[in-house]
Amino acid sequence: MADELEGRVVLITGAGSGIGRSIAGKFAERGAYLLLADIKSDSGEAVANTLRGAGATAHFVQADVAVASDCERMVGEVRARFGRLDVAINNAGIGDGPVVEATDNYPLERWDRIIAVNLSGVFHCLRYELPLMLESGGGAIVNMASISGLVSFPGTPAYTAAKHGVIGLTKVICNEYAARGIRCNAIAPGIIDTPLTADTLAIPAWESQLRGTIPTGRIGLPDDVADVALWLCTSAARYINGHVLAVDGGILVR
Ligand SMILES: NC(=O)c1ccc[n+]([C@@H]2O[C@H](COP(=O)([O-])OP(=O)(O)OC[C@H]3O[C@@H](n4cnc5c(N)ncnc54)[C@H](O)[C@@H]3O)[C@@H](O)[C@H]2O)c1
Repeated sequence: MADELEGRVVLITGAGSGIGRSIAGKFAERGAYLLLADIKSDSGEAVANTLRGAGATAHFVQADVAVASDCERMVGEVRARFGRLDVAINNAGIGDGPVVEATDNYPLERWDRIIAVNLSGVFHCLRYELPLMLESGGGAIVNMASISGLVSFPGTPAYTAAKHGVIGLTKVICNEYAARGIRCNAIAPGIIDTPLTADTLAIPAWESQLRGTIPTGRIGLPDDVADVALWLCTSAARYINGHVLAVDGGILVR
């Protein structure tokens, strides 16, 4: 029996590293056609080349999701190459780094950039993905939020506000487009070992303190999140819409 993801057209932002790269690999293994986007050309191209070398159909497009016209061009590339869009993984994001700042001292430029990438970036992607997905008869969208979209950690006002916003957007898209065949869900990863958390996890005291908050007892891996992202885009998840799924080893239940 043919794989339901074979030949499906999948757009992944932030595909050059970490969770996005892992998601790209999972969809490639299932025979999907991939358009990989990232602000960094070298790493994004490298992922596309590696997947193509393994027999996948994968193309790279450079795009900064904070720039609406980049997202329009990115989706235009999907249309030009494949003529349709079945799955969108809005994953690109930046972290707050190991130095946290309470709100009364929070750098204004850091607020602007994190909101621009992590919140407006997801809106820009959706804004241009939705028309093509509607033309394609529907599809599945996964927005990469965070447990910071469900609870708050002090010292990260921009990241926390942006990720709460991503979850809000996810609910709006479900409300607006469910009847037209689009499912839109969010994933809330916990602490995942990627370049985004590398600086923090490199500080032994922080690593052990963070690990101590995880009931499962280990830091998450990109594949832990990627498997869930892929599953949300299959028919097994056909009745899940507007949902936020924590992939956090249990942090939130403590
Ligand atoms: N790693 C974690 O612990 C963790 C936890 C919760 C949520 N997340 C979220 O998961 C997503 C992926 O993070 P990751 O951990 O894989 O990080 P990562 O740094 O390994 O990968 C992020 C990718 O996004 C790209 N990117 C950054 N800004 C961009 C922009 N403006 N336009 C396009 N691409 C851009 C980067 O170049 C990079 O390739 C992010 O949205 C992040 O907030 C990560």
